[in-house]
Amino acid sequence: MIGVRAFSLNRGELRSFVNNEEGWVPGQDISGVVLQQAADGSGPMAGCRVVALMDEFGWAERAAVPSHRMAVLPDAVSFSQAATLPVAGLTALRTLRHGAPLLGKRVLITGAAGGVGTIAVQLAARSGARVTAVVGRAERGNGLKELGAIEVIEGIDKGQGRFGLILESVGGASLADAIKLVEAKGTVVVFGNSSGEPTTLTFADFRGAPNSRVQSFSYFTSEAEERFAPDLALLVSLVADGSLKPQIGLERSWRDIAVVANQLRARRVAGKAVLLADGRS
Ligand SMILES: NC(=O)c1ccc[n+]([C@@H]2O[C@H](COP(=O)([O-])OP(=O)(O)OC[C@H]3O[C@@H](n4cnc5c(N)ncnc54)[C@H](OP(=O)(O)O)[C@@H]3O)[C@@H](O)[C@H]2O)c1
Repeated sequence: MIGVRAFSLNRGELRSFVNNEEGWVPGQDISGVVLQQAADGSGPMAGCRVVALMDEFGWAERAAVPSHRMAVLPDAVSFSQAATLPVAGLTALRTLRHGAPLLGKRVLITGAAGGVGTIAVQLAARSGARVTAVVGRAERGNGLKELGAIEVIEGIDKGQGRFGLILESVGGASLADAIKLVEAKGTVVVFGNSSGEPTTLTFADFRGAPNSRVQSFSYFTSEAEERFAPDLALLVSLVADGSLKPQIGLERSWRDIAVVANQLRARRVAGKAVLLADGRS
């Protein structure tokens, strides 16, 4: 049982607000303090600061989380920083694994200014990739080179050359362009459709990149359940040693969630939006 201190908001949850039934309780990314250890003795003890991933129900004062879905936080990692990690961090980490090894590989990341994108840029660069970050407007690219991108382009149609790995989350024309930019035997990981637009494909689109792959991705099922705790712990350790810098574009009280959701929907949050359960971070 975790006493929740902070949580973050994901673009996917904006859709769930609209699509899910009345009575559904949202909340996937939480950080806080263990109030009661799991009855079977697994997981962190009461009093430990932790980050956790839930399927739902996280936006609460107290949340019951399976012990294999959490990782302990060192003092150097704040509750707000930790809350940015579960959905966005695991998605960035695990989509990038589809391109391993990344050393020297050209990697193109769409939605680079967003929650997943700002983490993916950093993890890819730290792994030795040459990262091209795609943003919608010039000002959305601010800071991405400092995070490790070697180039920032306004729109995927400005992409030059071919890429061994492409992380694609915008959909529509962006996905069609991604397939034109992948290299032979390279991979396009399709993990979102922020534009809501469909994409038309034909076999001929793969002519310049024979045997390339379009890989769908879903973070809850991409790897085994028992991999959540070690992957969360890995992300936490990278924040603790300063090699991953969570980009908190907006941090407010949970009471301001409507304002925060509108900002995220309008693509005005640089990185992640974090909500504080009771004003403490
Ligand atoms: N499959 C999975 O397991 C999984 C996991 C996590 C997230 N996702 C999906 O991945 C996407 C990114 O998630 P996120 O949390 O990083 O979202 P986010 O923080 O809102 O970032 C999305 C980015 O996409 C860009 N974008 C381009 N065209 C857009 C459009 N028409 N509408 C909205 N955004 C647009 C925006 O950047 P500019 O304004 O610079 O263009 C924005 O920064 C979402 O679609 C989300 O649902 C999927």
